[in-house]
Amino acid sequence: MMKTSVCKIDEKLSGEELSSLDVIREAGAIIRAGGLVAFPTETVYGLGGNALDADASAKIYAAKGRPSDNPLIAHVADEQGVIDIVKEIPPKAERCMEAFWPGPLTMIFEKKEIVPYTTTGGLDTVAVRMPAHQGALALIRAAGVPIAAPSANRSGRPSPTTAKHVEDDLLGAIEMILDGGSADIGVESTIVDMTCDPPMILRPGYITQEMLQEVIGEVDVDPTITDANAKSRPKAPGMRYRHYAPKAPLTLVEDAEDGQMAAKAICICAGEAAGNGERVGIIGTEEYLEQYRESTAAFPNVIIKSIGRRSDPEAIAHNLYGVLREFDDEEVDRIFSESFESNHLGRAIMNRLSKAAGHQVICAEKFFTDSVRK
Ligand code: TXA
Ligand code: MG
Repeated sequence: MMKTSVCKIDEKLSGEELSSLDVIREAGAIIRAGGLVAFPTETVYGLGGNALDADASAKIYAAKGRPSDNPLIAHVADEQGVIDIVKEIPPKAERCMEAFWPGPLTMIFEKKEIVPYTTTGGLDTVAVRMPAHQGALALIRAAGVPIAAPSANRSGRPSPTTAKHVEDDLLGAIEMILDGGSADIGVESTIVDMTCDPPMILRPGYITQEMLQEVIGEVDVDPTITDANAKSRPKAPGMRYRHYAPKAPLTLVEDAEDGQMAAKAICICAGEAAGNGERVGIIGTEEYLEQYRESTAAFPNVIIKSIGRRSDPEAIAHNLYGVLREFDDEEVDRIFSESFESNHLGRAIMNRLSKAAGHQVICAEKFFTDSVRK
């Protein structure tokens, strides 16, 4: 085990102020020397190493316990950082950079030779992102190299949205953790493949298809995102893995409307399981918390956690991974969760939740017509 130093950086400092901090200089030096530093971004925490150093990338895979055919995203601080590592920037990518960078958008380009295959998981393309977090940008500048950074979780755990989550997974495995508070957005960046035309979304995120289409016209979506039964393989290698599976089986309960009927079905399912002596988790929205509390009041073995207001998808994205991590600590036997409309930011939320549930979904309307509870 190595000693991991955990260092706070003040989110309110300007980029310039951050750049002059000793801890940022030190973190940059660690990366330049081939070591690993976890750092905050606006999406989730990243586990950073020198993207141009094959040994550093290998260390990232090892620290995460991640299969090495799953490529890393290179994080840059300015346009020159992209020019240095990609063969060409198509005009549509240029427009997206202007509209969304720095920000939660990752784009795939043909890579230059300087980027080692270890970083790209053997691919001739490289994923690039300019994060919108002053601490992240200051770190990239201090390192003087593009920073390869997957989410800073052990493989198979939810992405970390706080420095505490990173500590839980990686303490003793990396040199440093920069603690910049809780990550704003809470789900990973949107990934768009710019090597094809029309460009294609490989992973949904905060930047939606609609937002992209406003800037560059037609944008495709990898069919495996919108159709769980699609025959093709996801184009982003990382989307092929089950990714995160909660310790307890997770069931999503959906309805065609505002969640009311799903909440009712969850109350019944949770009550039944709790009556059988199981420890049950409920992931619910603020709108229905009271209903869950009342209907399961007789069962101390039901644990209810709020994921935010249904009317506020940004809050739900922000809380999602934290709530899933909390349930892993609660040692519940099963979890029921409300589901959300799969549009705009909801597409990213449902993409992560469905994966966590292994696509185990109950339709509330069907539940009430099929079951004996008439
Ligand atoms: O928001 C984010 O993107 C965060 C923060 C830290 O920036 N990073 C992140 O990295 O989510 P990671 O490694 O957890 O996810 C990277 C995804 C994987 O699904 C990977 O397969 C895909 O990007 N990817 C990377 N390079 C690719 C390439 N050349 N072609 C296709 N997919 C690629
Ligand atoms: Mg990840």
